[in-house]
Amino acid sequence: MTAEIINGKDLAQELRMAMKEEVAALIQDGITPQLTVVLVGDNPASRSYVKGKEKAASEVGIDSSLIELPNSTTEDELLKLIQKLNEDAGVHGILVQLPLPKQIREQEVIEAISPSKDVDGFHPISIGRMITGEDTFLPCTPYGIITMLKSRNIKIEGKHAVIIGRSNIVGKPVGQLLLNENATVTYCHSRTADLKTYTQDADILIAAIGRANAITSEYIKEGAVVIDVGINRLDNGKLTGDVDFEGALEKASFVTPVPKGVGPMTIAMLLKNTIKAAKGLNN
Ligand code: GUN
Repeated sequence: MTAEIINGKDLAQELRMAMKEEVAALIQDGITPQLTVVLVGDNPASRSYVKGKEKAASEVGIDSSLIELPNSTTEDELLKLIQKLNEDAGVHGILVQLPLPKQIREQEVIEAISPSKDVDGFHPISIGRMITGEDTFLPCTPYGIITMLKSRNIKIEGKHAVIIGRSNIVGKPVGQLLLNENATVTYCHSRTADLKTYTQDADILIAAIGRANAITSEYIKEGAVVIDVGINRLDNGKLTGDVDFEGALEKASFVTPVPKGVGPMTIAMLLKNTIKAAKGLNN
């Protein structure tokens, strides 16, 4: 079998075109969606992600601003800033780029953001609503993955979805969203014994491990849908995913590439959440 490639870059572009019209209509009504991004410290990867978010926002007409703080910022200073942004009616969405410097507790920061502006979908209230299936801000990468599956009419109901990775940002929530779509979900992680036993039974395989090309073709069931969430930089500077792409192409029915896969979809979903926030749909 030669897999079809789900190109996240093209899909994200299509979604941005549609969002551009939605934003134009909002602006006509006197509401310009506003996203404030906070970047603490000088992590080059974080800086590059933040730039990508700003560029995509401006492309659809969302007003974005970037607040850059030094690496030495204290937790108290950051919490005060968030309080100010929470109270600012001109700010619809707040995103604090992770990871944060070690003197700042990430969970304290996440919980300080008003749930009505939580465009990352990381606040416990957003997570709780996601679990109970209420309308809420969904975390962007999992939301992007579900959108990719739906864009190809890939059936989720009744399928066995296997997630490798259990982070709060990707692994745990993507499993929950697939469960909400009536998949049977298995979570695997670094302590899973005999990983292959699970992955070889997966109809939908989500790799969010953070190890370059770790998922080779023998992990993949014939005809499976393979979603690669990994972004790993090789010594030669090239970006690669967690999945051996060539191997997956031979065995899967659908596969997502890296780059041009899940990454651009994450950003598109952030824009969707910002528009939702501007519409006041999550208060
Ligand atoms: N760091 C890596 N991914 C993300 C994300 O989706 N949101 C934020 N805020 N930080 C991140």
